[in-house]
Amino acid sequence: MDRIRIRGGNRLTGTIPISGAKNAALPLMIVSLLTPGTLTLSNVPRLADVRQLQRILQNHGVDIMVAGKRPGQNGMQGDVKQLSAKVIADTTAPYELVSKMRASFWVLGPLLARCGEAKVSLPGGCAIGTRPVDMHLLAMEKLGAEIAIENGYVIANAKKGLKGAHIAFDKVSVGATHAALMASVLADGDTIIENAASEPEIGDVAECLVKMGARIEGIHTSTLKVRGVTSLTGAEHSVIPDRIETGTYAMCVAMAGGDVLLKDANSGHLSAVIDIMRGAGIGVESTNEGIRIHRNGHALEPVKIDTEPYPGFPTDCQAQLMALMTKADGTSMIRETIFENRFMHVQELARLGADIHLHGDTAEVRGVKKLTGAPVMATDLRASVSLVIAGLVAEGETTINRVYHLDRGFETLEEKLSACGADVTRISGS
Ligand code: UD1
Repeated sequence: MDRIRIRGGNRLTGTIPISGAKNAALPLMIVSLLTPGTLTLSNVPRLADVRQLQRILQNHGVDIMVAGKRPGQNGMQGDVKQLSAKVIADTTAPYELVSKMRASFWVLGPLLARCGEAKVSLPGGCAIGTRPVDMHLLAMEKLGAEIAIENGYVIANAKKGLKGAHIAFDKVSVGATHAALMASVLADGDTIIENAASEPEIGDVAECLVKMGARIEGIHTSTLKVRGVTSLTGAEHSVIPDRIETGTYAMCVAMAGGDVLLKDANSGHLSAVIDIMRGAGIGVESTNEGIRIHRNGHALEPVKIDTEPYPGFPTDCQAQLMALMTKADGTSMIRETIFENRFMHVQELARLGADIHLHGDTAEVRGVKKLTGAPVMATDLRASVSLVIAGLVAEGETTINRVYHLDRGFETLEEKLSACGADVTRISGS
C-alpha cells in the first residue's frame, strides 16, 4: 500500500493546475445511461473513483473509449472520454461494485428511466456517517416507480414508464437531487423538484442534459422544473473545475505560506471558502487565469463556521480548514451540520500536536505554535488531505498511510505540490 511522506517547512510558489470536478464527472458519466447516443466528456479527472465507476458502467453495457492526448495537451489536462450506451446489457448493479463507491448507487434513476427497471445494491455503511438513501427512493416512488428492498438490493419497477411529479425534499441532498433530475428528464410530463441541492456540480449535470435534449428550467437554483422528453441524444461537455480541490490547495498555500496561482479555478463556486480565508488574513485574488493565493508571514486569524449546503461552507472542505486552523493565532469553532461522525481527522491531527476538543457537532480548535511530524492514517478522502496540509508545516517527517483514500479524489497530489516546492514524496509498496 502506498504512503505519502512529507517533510514540513517549505513555502509554496508557482502554479497548481486544478482538475475537473470529481463530483461532477461521476454523475456526468452516469448520465450516459440515458441515451443510446455518444456522450463525449472532456476534462475528466484521472481518479480511482472515475475508474471504479467506469467498471460499473461497463457492467451495464456502456462502451467507454478514452481519446489519446491531443496536440498541445499536457499531462495535467483531464481525459476525454466517450461513453456510449447503445443498449443497456444489464439493469443490475451488484453489491461487489456498488459497495466500493457510494455514488454508483446513482445509476438507479437513469436505469429506471431508460429501461423501466433496475436492481441496485444498497450502498451500505460509510466512514462519514450513516448516509441513507431514503430520499432517492422517495423521489423514484413519486415518479411512479414501485420499490422493494430484498436481500440488500433496491428493486425498482416502472413498466409503464415514469410519470412527472412534484417532489419536495425535506432536506437538501446532492445525490437525491441528481437521482430525481436524471430520472425525470425521460418521465412523461412535468416534474418540479423543490428544495433541490444547488451545488455547481448539479448545475453542470443539468447543463449537459440540456445539450442532450432535456428541458430543464431553474438550473443553479433550488427549484428545478423538468418537462419530460421521450429520448435524449449524445452531446459534448467539459467538466467544471473542482472547487473542493481548489479549496484544498488554497489551504495548503495558506498553511505553508507563499504565493501560488490555482490555474483554471472558478472563484464563483467558492465564495464561502474565499470569504472565510480572507477573514483569516489570507490573500485571495481572482484573476483571468484562476485564483491567486498568498500569505507571507501574516498570522492566521481564527474562524467560526458551520458547514452548509451550497452556497454555504462545504462539508468537503471542513477537514482542510480544521487542519489550517490548528496553527491559527487563537481558537476556532468549526461545526459540522451535514454529516455526523465527520471528525475522524481530529485524532490524527492530534498525533501531529493539534489541540482540538469535540463538543457534539462542533470542534473547538485551539491554535498551537508548532506541529511535529508523525506517522498518521488516512481515514476518508477529505480527512486524508487535511493531514497533508498539517504535514506541510509539521517539523520533521509526516508519513500518511492508506493513501488510496487520497487517490480516490486528488489527481497527482504529490506532483502538484512538489512542483511548487513542497517536499512530498509517494513511497510505493507495503
Ligand atoms: C455528495 C458529495 C459529497 C459531499 C455531499 C454533501 C458526490 C459524489 N458526493 O454526497 O462529496 O460531501 O454531497 O455536499 O457528489 N441524506 C438522507 N437521505 C438520503 C440522502 C441523503 O438523509 O436519501 C442525508 C445525508 O445523510 C447527509 C445529507 O443528506 O446528512 C446530505 O447528503 P448528500 O447531499 O446526499 O450527500 P451525497 O450526495 O452522498
